[in-house]
Amino acid sequence: MTGTNIICRVNDIEPVPAIAFIVTVDGKQAQACAGETVLNLLFALDIRSISTTNRGLKGGAYCGMGICFFCTVCIDGIRNQRACQSIVREGMNIQTHCNQFYEAGIHHECAIR
Ligand code: FES
Repeated sequence: MTGTNIICRVNDIEPVPAIAFIVTVDGKQAQACAGETVLNLLFALDIRSISTTNRGLKGGAYCGMGICFFCTVCIDGIRNQRACQSIVREGMNIQTHCNQFYEAGIHHECAIR
């Protein structure tokens, strides 16, 4: 796969055995492997900054096992899906940095400085 609307896998630890299907990540096409998590795919695509907090801070995965919720993405229009707990599916539409509160300007400043 080549082109401007394509993200290439550049960070696989080992060569992937077979590309199973195409998914969309932030509006670009990417090759995914059957059985891998969305987080694994994002790492393979060299995408480390994944989420945006209610205050607009960028974040990435922390625990990798479903506990911290730092890896939340929008999958097929459903927000707050944990990338580390979601298995890729053919045609999946993944969007990083989705935060409806931050996008709407609804956030609370921390009173403690
Ligand atoms: S990385 Fe912690 S919940 Fe996904």
